[in-house]
Amino acid sequence: MSSIRDRLNTSPEPEDSGPGFEQHETRGAGSVPAVPATGPKDDRTDDEKRAELAVSVLFLLALVGAVGFIATYVAWPYKYGESGYEWYTPLLGLTMALALIGVGAGAVLWAKTLMVDEETVQERHHLNSEPEDRTAAADVLKAGAEESRLMKYPMLRRTFLLSQAALAILPIPLLFSLGHFQHKERALGKTGWKKGSRLLDELGRPVKVGDLEVGGVKSVFPDVPGGRRMADSAALIIRMRPEQLKPMKGRENWIVDNQYIVYSVICTHLGCPVKLYEQQTHHLFCPCHQSTFDAANGAKVLFGPAARNLPQLAITVDSEGYFVARDDFNEPVGPSYWERKPSYKEPKYDGTGA
Ligand code: FES
Repeated sequence: MSSIRDRLNTSPEPEDSGPGFEQHETRGAGSVPAVPATGPKDDRTDDEKRAELAVSVLFLLALVGAVGFIATYVAWPYKYGESGYEWYTPLLGLTMALALIGVGAGAVLWAKTLMVDEETVQERHHLNSEPEDRTAAADVLKAGAEESRLMKYPMLRRTFLLSQAALAILPIPLLFSLGHFQHKERALGKTGWKKGSRLLDELGRPVKVGDLEVGGVKSVFPDVPGGRRMADSAALIIRMRPEQLKPMKGRENWIVDNQYIVYSVICTHLGCPVKLYEQQTHHLFCPCHQSTFDAANGAKVLFGPAARNLPQLAITVDSEGYFVARDDFNEPVGPSYWERKPSYKEPKYDGTGA
């Protein structure tokens, strides 16, 4: 069988590869004969069998990773508060990495141990492809397939095809996260806040009426398991004078004593934390691109690239005087996205704090 070099009509491997290059040492020189694609005799050496097994194990790992990715995507709990939800994203990353690394490492090991190790030198020529060059390229591809020796190693062939199939199906579940095929519930429309969740400060202490001076602000988080680590739930409670605060129409009972109001701190432009509060003007300022929100007036956008008001969290106080949420935000927090609905529902609260 002619080699790649023969078909490319290239010069023979040079004695000296030129300045800066070391002479190529053929791996296992003399031990890898030109092998026909198929043959009645199993002439694999023990080393080749071991290498084939190692490559096959890597391809099977890729399959395990892909199946694990899909199983995690479909079955693993990911809602806030559900046991194990914090592993959802890491598991997706780990299983996808296993699939990609399995295929990649398998291919590298295959090339380094089982494929024909041959170095060729091709002379430069015109850039346009002549018909005969295209034919030669097709021949080379065919020869490459033969010299990969897939036909010789049946286990390698099957596991390679399995790993390729695994990679092909890997992105399919992601399609179900797009548009109207969204997976499970609308995760972007929910945060950790629940009806009756107390407002905790950064040290985990519940915040109660009187904890803030007029003009004061405090970062607050929902009193749910892991609430202080929920990036989408961070909010800011602000105290103003009653005559300063102008609740939006229909939101008169979303504030407490006409003095305390709570907004999401996630900028509706690109998600930076909006925590700079200017108590004289009641402006909330985003340091990233200078979006400015009017905290006394529904956090309306006064300036900057943000297109939406900061979402407001409806609050009340429970029987012990602690602030509690009436419900989750009634709209998705943070930057806009294309299937976002303007609002979901008006929060209701029965006043029990439960
Ligand atoms: S992220 Fe806030 S203005 Fe851009």
